Amino acid sequence: MKIILTGGAGFLGSHTAVELVNEGYEPIIIDDFRNSKSFIIDNIEKIIGRKVIFHCADIGDQNKVSTIIKNEKPAGLIHFAADKAVNESVLNPLKYYHNNIGNLIKLLEVINNFNLSSFIFSSSCTVYGEPSCIPVNEKTPIQPAFSPYGYTKQVGEKILTDFFKTKKQTSLTILRYFNPIGAHPSSLIGELPLGIPSNLVPHLTQTAIGKRKQLTIFGNDYNTADGTCIRDYIHVVDLARAHVLSLKNKIMSNNVYNVGVGKGSSVLELVNCFEEINNLNVNYQFGDRRSGDVPEIYADNSLIKKKLNWEPKFSLKDALQHAWNWELELKSKYKVD
Ligand SMILES: NC(=O)c1ccc[n+]([C@@H]2O[C@H](COP(=O)([O-])OP(=O)(O)OC[C@H]3O[C@@H](n4cnc5c(N)ncnc54)[C@H](O)[C@@H]3O)[C@@H](O)[C@H]2O)c1
Repeated sequence: MKIILTGGAGFLGSHTAVELVNEGYEPIIIDDFRNSKSFIIDNIEKIIGRKVIFHCADIGDQNKVSTIIKNEKPAGLIHFAADKAVNESVLNPLKYYHNNIGNLIKLLEVINNFNLSSFIFSSSCTVYGEPSCIPVNEKTPIQPAFSPYGYTKQVGEKILTDFFKTKKQTSLTILRYFNPIGAHPSSLIGELPLGIPSNLVPHLTQTAIGKRKQLTIFGNDYNTADGTCIRDYIHVVDLARAHVLSLKNKIMSNNVYNVGVGKGSSVLELVNCFEEINNLNVNYQFGDRRSGDVPEIYADNSLIKKKLNWEPKFSLKDALQHAWNWELELKSKYKVD
């Protein structure tokens, strides 16, 4: 069964491609490498031991995407392609509205002419804003967005929900990811930030390897046990498996799931765990709070566990070891700025 992965050369898409192959699906990757590199496709192929179907295209290019769908005849589509840096979205909101909303609409206009049985959307726990109650479940009210990026995920969910009400044959699943980290255990694929990473773990691994001078932890005066923010860190392979299970257990309506391990860890705990498991010292300092960061959020994941039979298999330690191995691999084999 063929499944299109828009943004399939990215961090989450590449791992999902591998997990799909493991479960007998045929991923069809569409990506234009605006935030990835072509060697990721080569490395997916090394992991799966064969060629993967890849099309280089901007998902906003309706002619190209339409031709791909007409020729490939996919059963489903997972929409990863988007811009994802919260801070950048504050500085350049139009980039985010253009790609995350404008190109989503263009994609749906194309899909309108085809019959897909499943559509999965990459959403985010940012839709919950600063929740009044933790852990958050899927019924936790959506709060006003803290950033243009968060707003694009809220609007994306709404656009898709409205659109797929008119396409009764398609099952829509919205996955609200918490904080994906780690890398594939093979060290062949992982997070590949181009430029200065906006996520914690690549900044941490790049500091540990000497590519960055220092890691700044934004804020140590939050009302948490050690003063740093609390997040729900989930291994990228566990997150990827949630997509496969969503396809397998397709339900026709109301498929919104939190994808997190259901446990909060502070930023400082994560840094300490990274140092311990990899036997390293990281040069870090505490800085000011960063706008857009909520103090604490983690998932109530009981719904996805019950409905999709999903369980995380990897620990925080595993994720931090795999992330470090990936950084070492990047340094030894690839030149990425
Ligand atoms: N990584 C996270 O922390 C996180 C958390 C919550 C939600 N998400 C969402 O998950 C999705 C995937 O995130 P990721 O971490 O894999 O990001 P990523 O940047 O690594 O991957 C996205 C991929 O999409 C491609 N892309 C972007 N716009 C495109 C376009 N118009 N046409 C073709 N290709 C395009 C990029 O080149 C990249 O390879 C995004 O929608 C993101 O908002 C990510």
